[in-house]
Amino acid sequence: MKLKNCRVLITGASGGLGQHIASGLAQQGARLGLVDLRQEALQTQQTALKAAGCPEVHAVSADLTSADGRSRAINEIRNALGGIDLLINNAGVVDFHDFSHQDPAMIERIYQINLIAPIQMAREILPGMLEQGSGKIVNIGSTFGSIGFAYFSAYSGSKFGVRGFSESLRRELDGSGVDLCYIAPRAVKTPANSDAVYHMAEATKMNMDEPEDVARFIIESITKDRSNAYYGWPEKLFVRINALLPGLVDSALRKQNRIMARFAPKNV
Ligand SMILES: NC(=O)c1ccc[n+]([C@@H]2O[C@H](COP(=O)([O-])OP(=O)(O)OC[C@H]3O[C@@H](n4cnc5c(N)ncnc54)[C@H](OP(=O)(O)O)[C@@H]3O)[C@@H](O)[C@H]2O)c1
Repeated sequence: MKLKNCRVLITGASGGLGQHIASGLAQQGARLGLVDLRQEALQTQQTALKAAGCPEVHAVSADLTSADGRSRAINEIRNALGGIDLLINNAGVVDFHDFSHQDPAMIERIYQINLIAPIQMAREILPGMLEQGSGKIVNIGSTFGSIGFAYFSAYSGSKFGVRGFSESLRRELDGSGVDLCYIAPRAVKTPANSDAVYHMAEATKMNMDEPEDVARFIIESITKDRSNAYYGWPEKLFVRINALLPGLVDSALRKQNRIMARFAPKNV
């Protein structure tokens, strides 16, 4: 896919990863529709992108867990850009927690923003793409969407859902002119991760990437029309081993799980 003049709607656009994806898209000449929760962060980003020479940037603050919020964001961006060629479902929340103590409201939020919102955004935008005979939907998943991680149970479950949805819809869209790309980063240094995650990652030697590098990989995956893209070695190998021999991965993770237990919050 070529990004010059491409009409993009990106969610979570002013978050840790989203802001780097947005500026990478702008550098390639894309016309941007930014969607995020916080108006102020969006305005700052919009000003910075315009100052950096972005040809066109619109911003809508909306809560994507509500049907009204999603429809308003889509309509405003679609009207401003005259259509949507690329939807990047990036907004999400991460919660590292002992599941037996995790706040039920947080579990609800994880599934609303990580899984329901991308599915409903795709549902609302897809008919316009099919009508124009072209377009791409990008769903940001996670390595944890292929390997269930202890103390990320609700989060992992939501990303398994994103991966399953992406695979099914990609097959359904075959030959339609609309592509679907599922991209799975491993841990990234963004505000999504709590201090507890950073401490746990240090103790377990978990790889954590810079958001700039992951954003570059995401943009490359879009321009190279990849269907599935996993970031980082050896995680992408573990994804395959886990699919074939999950018992082997159970044993391999046992020691790490015990360390993770020390850091996982146990309060609601
Ligand atoms: N960071 C990682 O380790 C990691 C690893 C693999 C995959 N990912 C995935 O990468 C994506 C981006 O994550 P990130 O690390 O960049 O997180 P982030 O820095 O927290 O950014 C996420 C953005 O989404 C926004 N958002 C949250 N709930 C929303 C809602 N209801 N409506 C609209 N916007 C909402 C957030 O706004 P507020 O800040 O105002 O809440 C924030 O700006 C997510 O899908 C995440 O699951 C992250």
